[in-house]
Amino acid sequence: MKDTFINLLQAELKRIDDAKTSKRLEKMIVGFDANHKAIINGKKYLIFNSNDYLGLRFDEEVKKVEKEVVDIYGAGPGAVRFISGTFKVYKDLEKALAKFHGRDEAMIFSSAFAANLAVIFCLIKGQSKDSLVSGETIVISDALNHRSIIDGIRIAGVSKEQKAIYRHLDYKDLDRILTENKGKFKRALVISDGIFSMLGEAVDVKALRKIVDRHMDDYEEGVVLLIDDSHGVGAYGVTGRGVEEASGGKSDVLVGTLGKAFGSDGGYIVGDQIIIDYLRESAATYIYSNPISPSVAGAALKSVKIIDTEKGKNLLEKLNRNIVYFKKEIKKAGFQMASHSDHPIQPILIGDAKKAKKLAAELFERGILVTTISYPVVPPGKDEIRVQLSSLHTEEDIKYFISAVINSKSQD
Ligand SMILES: Cc1ncc(COP(=O)(O)O)c(C=O)c1O
Repeated sequence: MKDTFINLLQAELKRIDDAKTSKRLEKMIVGFDANHKAIINGKKYLIFNSNDYLGLRFDEEVKKVEKEVVDIYGAGPGAVRFISGTFKVYKDLEKALAKFHGRDEAMIFSSAFAANLAVIFCLIKGQSKDSLVSGETIVISDALNHRSIIDGIRIAGVSKEQKAIYRHLDYKDLDRILTENKGKFKRALVISDGIFSMLGEAVDVKALRKIVDRHMDDYEEGVVLLIDDSHGVGAYGVTGRGVEEASGGKSDVLVGTLGKAFGSDGGYIVGDQIIIDYLRESAATYIYSNPISPSVAGAALKSVKIIDTEKGKNLLEKLNRNIVYFKKEIKKAGFQMASHSDHPIQPILIGDAKKAKKLAAELFERGILVTTISYPVVPPGKDEIRVQLSSLHTEEDIKYFISAVINSKSQD
């Protein structure tokens, strides 16, 4: 490499470091104790920033299946599925996911990020020049959608005219965009996160469905609704079906992850048979990239099954009791929340970036892991401490967390 190029990279790193937005100095966890506290530098930490909302990554049954599946198939997939055969455990997992979400079919990906890149690209732009033509679709996306959705739209290479962003959770704005573009495009693709991970807000799928259906005939080939409910599946809704269950609405294509409430790893898409058949033929991150390891799929399959048992029901109820308890206690302590979330993501409004960072550092000193969310992810002055609850938390854990926040704040 030439020095000139290295200098360019160094300048970029300096810019990031000066802005204090560096992410590469990750904390190194060497293991967990019996109470699932993370061990860092010989000290134990309560985890309030994990997406493992039901604690299934530590579940004995889930871990047992993962170990058993390694012995059947080996540690890795060996190749992509169409090359040297697919493993039965992948098919079983897909069947279970389709059933869980009440859909014809499911397909798994290495991550939800990979799933979004593929599905958005493929629904906007077909691989064959005779199928989907990129310019015929308008893609309409919530202003705060996840990076994987933004990148999926980017790689589809749509023109400026073909892309519209509606104001965050503003369904009237979405309605306006669909009305204004009537007759200009053959089809429309509406995309939203299910749970917005910065603030824990839930999308109203029923309201979106209504708008999409109302505009169905305004477009020759209709309007498709895609929801990525990565933070909702497993953890939200009475039986863990996510925002669809909570709002009583249904998307056409649902993306989820196995790496959050399901405690495993990987992503998936569920939908009608035709959508999944088409994606198996065209999704590059499925065709040309390995699936998750078979043992990981086995663990995910066990988690999906657990959620529909008495044990799963109890985990979800415990999670919801923790959410209610946390909200009551944090309010009593005089803190304001940055949103009205009833999801395990509970953002405490702090104000400015410096204060939020200082508080997170003090909580770390007191043995607690949390995340700060700062501008530009949230508006300036709305910096928050993002708390993520789990069914693994005890009342004592939550009490300790709140007293630590009070004591740290009082040192401001
Ligand atoms: C909405 C959304 N989609 C996708 C992802 C990525 O999930 P995965 O880790 O499976 O790629 C996330 C996680 O941060 C998310 O919040």
